[in-house]
Amino acid sequence: MPATRRAPRPAAPDPAAFAVAEAGLAALAGLAPSDVLRRRLERAAPLAGAIDSPPDLASPGWAALLDAVTVQETRLFRAAPQLLALTALLPALPGGPLRLLSAGCASGEEAWSLAILAAAQGIEAEVLGLDLCRPALALAEAARYPAGPPDALREVPGAFLPWFTRDAGWVLPRADGLTRPVFRRTNLLDLPEETGRFGAILCRNVLIYLLPAARDAVLRGLVARLLPGGALLLGPTDMPGPGLPLRAEPGTHAIWRRL
Ligand SMILES: C[S@@+](CC[C@H](N)C(=O)[O-])C[C@H]1O[C@@H](n2cnc3c(N)ncnc32)[C@H](O)[C@@H]1O
Repeated sequence: MPATRRAPRPAAPDPAAFAVAEAGLAALAGLAPSDVLRRRLERAAPLAGAIDSPPDLASPGWAALLDAVTVQETRLFRAAPQLLALTALLPALPGGPLRLLSAGCASGEEAWSLAILAAAQGIEAEVLGLDLCRPALALAEAARYPAGPPDALREVPGAFLPWFTRDAGWVLPRADGLTRPVFRRTNLLDLPEETGRFGAILCRNVLIYLLPAARDAVLRGLVARLLPGGALLLGPTDMPGPGLPLRAEPGTHAIWRRL
C-alpha cells in the first residue's frame, strides 16, 4: 500500500520566542492570551522566532506578526438588527458632516455598510475604518469581496441590496452615490488626536480579543472621541465599565449614547 503523505507540521515554536511574542502582542495591541492566539502563534512560529526588536508597530517583524495573528472575521451588514437600530438614530446624531468610525474594521465590510446606511438616507457622512492588520486594510481599500458561498450578501437587508453589484464571483459596493470610507492603520490603544470626534463609533467583535486593561483603555479612548449625544455600538458580549459618560439607548441592544 502506498504511504500516505502528510502535510508538514509547522515548526514548533521555541518556548522563549513564544513567550516574547505573547508578551509583545499584549503590550503592543492589548491582545489577550487565548487558545485562538496560541494556535495562530504556532502557525506563525517562523515570524515569532525571527523577531529581534522590542515591540513596535513600525517594526517589520512585529507588524508581520500582528498581520498573522489578528482575527479578521467580518461580514457585510453583520448584526444587521443593530445596524438598523443605528439607521433610526442617524438623522439626529451630532456632527456636521456626520462622522462614523469603524474601530477594528478588518477588511472593511462594516465601514462600507455604514457608508451605505448613511447614503441610503441621503445623509452626508464621512466613514473612517481603523485597524492594525495591513492585508485586511488592503482588502478594505479594494472593496471587492468574494461572492461566496456562503453568500456575501446573506445578512444584507433587502432594502440595501441595490447598493451592491456582482461581478464574476465578487460583490462590490456601488461606486455611484457612495462616499468611500477612508482606512488607516491605527492602534486603538493609541488613537492619535487628529482622529477627531464622531457622531457614532462601532467597536464590535474587537474587545473580546483584548486583555481587560486594554479593553478599558480602548473604551475610554473611543468614548473620548464621541461627540455629546453620539452613539457607541459594541459587540453582543461587551459591556462598558462603570464611570464612563454613557447611557444605554432604550429599546436597542449594545448601543450607548455619550452624555
Ligand atoms: C473580528 S474583527 C472585527 C471586524 C468588525 N468590527 C466586525 O465586527 O465584523 C477584529 C479586528 O480588530 C482588529 N484589532 C484588534 N486589536 C486591535 C488594536 N489594538 N488596534 C486596532 N485594531 C485591532 C483586528 O486586527 C481585527 O481586524
